[in-house]
Amino acid sequence: MVCLGNICRSPVAEGVLRDKAKKYGIEMHIDSAGTSNYHVGEAPDRRSLENARQFGIDISDLRARQFVVEDFDRFDKILVMDTSNYSNVISLARNEEDKKKVMLLLDHIQPGKNMCVPDPYFGGPEGFTTVFKLIDQACENILQEELKKKRNS
Ligand code: 4NP
Repeated sequence: MVCLGNICRSPVAEGVLRDKAKKYGIEMHIDSAGTSNYHVGEAPDRRSLENARQFGIDISDLRARQFVVEDFDRFDKILVMDTSNYSNVISLARNEEDKKKVMLLLDHIQPGKNMCVPDPYFGGPEGFTTVFKLIDQACENILQEELKKKRNS
């Protein structure tokens, strides 16, 4: 899960996906990162933490890190929050195989529509609720797709 700072959106996506994977009994290695180094080592933004907590997700132990090129080797899928994150990650790709791993998280809600998780950093508290709901829906869809694959395998 990748955003710009790794303190608002992607830590929530990491926490939500981990929670759902556990709930549905699907094994996944999940992590998050930011394309920038602005907040490396910091805990999630207090507003993100509080919002996630209201929905029953605890992300207080997460710490921001920057996306590195080795992440293309460590992960099968790199889900980005917006089109700017997409360009930043794609610019680090070494080959077509790396590029194929990158997709917008919200393509799991509306494929091909370039839907983005809006950056809530400079806005009010309602932005964090919107972010949570979008991420929650996309992660629910990811798990439903995985469950379907598991049933058909
Ligand atoms: P995030 O939000 O990418 O969802 O973690 C932001 C966090 C920090 C900044 C921008 C967006 N910033 O400019 O410091």
